[in-house]
Amino acid sequence: IKRVTTRTLQELKNAGHKIAMLTAYDFSIASIVDDAGVDVILVGDSASNVMAGHETTLPITLDQMIYHASSVVRAAKRALVVVDLPFGSYQGNSKEALASAIRIMKESGAHAVKLEGGIEIAESVSRILTAGIPVMGHLGLTPQSIYKFGTYTVRAKEDAEAQKLRNDALKLQELGCFAVVLEKIPAQLGQEVSQSLSIPTIGIGAGQYCDGQVLVIHDMLGINKGFKPRFLRQYANLYDVMSDAIKNYTSDVKSGSFPSDKEQY
Ligand code: KIV
Ligand code: NA
Repeated sequence: IKRVTTRTLQELKNAGHKIAMLTAYDFSIASIVDDAGVDVILVGDSASNVMAGHETTLPITLDQMIYHASSVVRAAKRALVVVDLPFGSYQGNSKEALASAIRIMKESGAHAVKLEGGIEIAESVSRILTAGIPVMGHLGLTPQSIYKFGTYTVRAKEDAEAQKLRNDALKLQELGCFAVVLEKIPAQLGQEVSQSLSIPTIGIGAGQYCDGQVLVIHDMLGINKGFKPRFLRQYANLYDVMSDAIKNYTSDVKSGSFPSDKEQY
């Protein structure tokens, strides 16, 4: 199998083909995602929410991200593996940002890192790129800044914030990022940015004109019962599938019908 690289993603955009990205945090799920043909696996700091049960992405640590990332890397035969730099490991200190990115690359074997923000983190982005580590940007709703926003609603609806996002996207491209995630912004703005950039945009709630799409796997598989934002398409209802299986198992154990004669030595 031929490995997806940052160049592959650029070639997909140039050819007018879309890029499919999903999150994964562990070996077993990442194996399924990779075998199914997803181009990019994101080890997102959404692990803080869906794996650890925190309310925000802020608490997850660099060590915990490296643990998730190394598990995913062992499963990924084809996909490009991108890892989020967690909150506090890169903001405002480019030396620490580089050290964090190097730890991720060295200790997990991942292929690239992702950082949230634009001009504010330009120095960190440059420094990481200088070390030969590919960087994916992330603009719009950046969940590590949730306490600044105060809400998870759509970003950049106002002109000033939209203009800043356009500038930030161009800046990230100029610095040398290989792609940019656009999260929860109007489709029109997603289209404008996707057309003005030569590098690929990957949208989540950013409309149909982005060069690719990303979803959190627990959301699209319907493991998170009750999380149904407008941008989410749920491709399965694994909550019910798993719940039914577990109820059947429990009832079989209680009734003594499991294990049967054939299920013992
Ligand atoms: O952490 C994450 O899952 C992400 C994607 C939603 C883009 O950053
Ligand atoms: Na993230």
